[in-house]
Amino acid sequence: MTFDPSINRLLFPALHQHINDRPVYFFDGPGGSQVPQSVLDAMNHYLGHFNSNLGGAFFSSTKTTALLTKARQVAQTFVNAPSANNMVFGANMTTLTFQLSRVISRDWQLGDEVIVTALDHYSNVSSWQQAAEDKGATMHQVRLDETNCDIDYDHFTSLLNSRTKLVAVTYASNVTGSLVDIKRIITAAHAVGAQVYIDAVHYAPHRLIDVQQLDCDFLVCSAYKFFGPHLGIAYIAPQWLQTLRPYKVEPAPNDGPARFETGTQNFESLAGFIAAVEYLAHYSRTLDTQPLSLRQHLSRSFNHYQAYENTLSQHFLSHLQRYSNITLFGLKDHQQRTPTFAIRIDNVTPTDVAAHLGDHNLCVWHGHFYAQGLCKQLDLLNKGGVIRIGCMHYNTHHEIDTLFEVLDCFLTVR
Ligand SMILES: Cc1ncc(COP(=O)(O)O)c(C=O)c1O
Repeated sequence: MTFDPSINRLLFPALHQHINDRPVYFFDGPGGSQVPQSVLDAMNHYLGHFNSNLGGAFFSSTKTTALLTKARQVAQTFVNAPSANNMVFGANMTTLTFQLSRVISRDWQLGDEVIVTALDHYSNVSSWQQAAEDKGATMHQVRLDETNCDIDYDHFTSLLNSRTKLVAVTYASNVTGSLVDIKRIITAAHAVGAQVYIDAVHYAPHRLIDVQQLDCDFLVCSAYKFFGPHLGIAYIAPQWLQTLRPYKVEPAPNDGPARFETGTQNFESLAGFIAAVEYLAHYSRTLDTQPLSLRQHLSRSFNHYQAYENTLSQHFLSHLQRYSNITLFGLKDHQQRTPTFAIRIDNVTPTDVAAHLGDHNLCVWHGHFYAQGLCKQLDLLNKGGVIRIGCMHYNTHHEIDTLFEVLDCFLTVR
């Protein structure tokens, strides 16, 4: 059976709104996806009935403790971690990364080195840059291969040496949709004894993560990019869980993932996160009645989402071929990418294009998206960046057609 987005779309209230008597078209998924009703219900239900804290001898606290346990198990399944204890929650990816970078760099010394990339969102650059500065370590930044907006792997290899403590790298670009050959990076980094910290924020809604298969040291993602609420999720490999020394308040737990979690958790977001992962698995459950595990359902669903997203990419790229005045930054191919596209139109600023599309309820982002290294190398930083059109599996071919119709009108009247 081929994935039909119209069934999933019914689950998302936001997709059926009319603003100023017109339908809405969400191409802003890489900045934050829409959420299904089940996520809203889960958050509402938790806050409406069980709002509490951990460890109390009464029903709502028991419920809250059980919710946190379940959220860790679901996070474990989502990334295929060896144990629920490997999963840490926080406010968002950036906050988690700043926190973890301080912890991971605690024993770095003068002369140590860290590698970041020009493809990354700066949450995975500035955090390491500042950690390196604090410790007198040197930070190197891997250049882009401009032909396809991927990492320049030769440059990466040339920077790696026995002093490299850590490589921080994205799994997929939030601007161009390029998928990184992360296994190659992990293998090379581990060969010199360096740890690898992966930003999977843009990857997570499009492909199923498997940290054991990757054999990475750390991986972070954000639930609001995959149909959930605002919540950061980090995986810490078993060998680092107890050896790292997190900054924490003395009475807080000394064992397990709670060592890394400061203050009270966002329990309503944990409820929403569980529902978001269930939503992602739901499509597989509709296919037949096979008694599969949550991970197996996720795997089957993601195979369908990926195949469908490839058709969206193909459709988008075939439209683009008609325009000699549009530049696409990134892969022209639909296979090794997410359906996220960075474009510029000759003689028009990204701001003007985005504003025109916005007037027609076509939600697209414009700018640099904190991918400062990429925009700097492509000389776009001071020129307004790019227009980013991002599809999720709830987007349709018809929506892409509408986007290009509105773009055509805009270009004709200019
Ligand atoms: C690739 C990527 N990494 C990191 C982040 C930061 O995530 P958060 O908003 O959860 O801090 C974003 C946000 O847009 C992103 O797209």
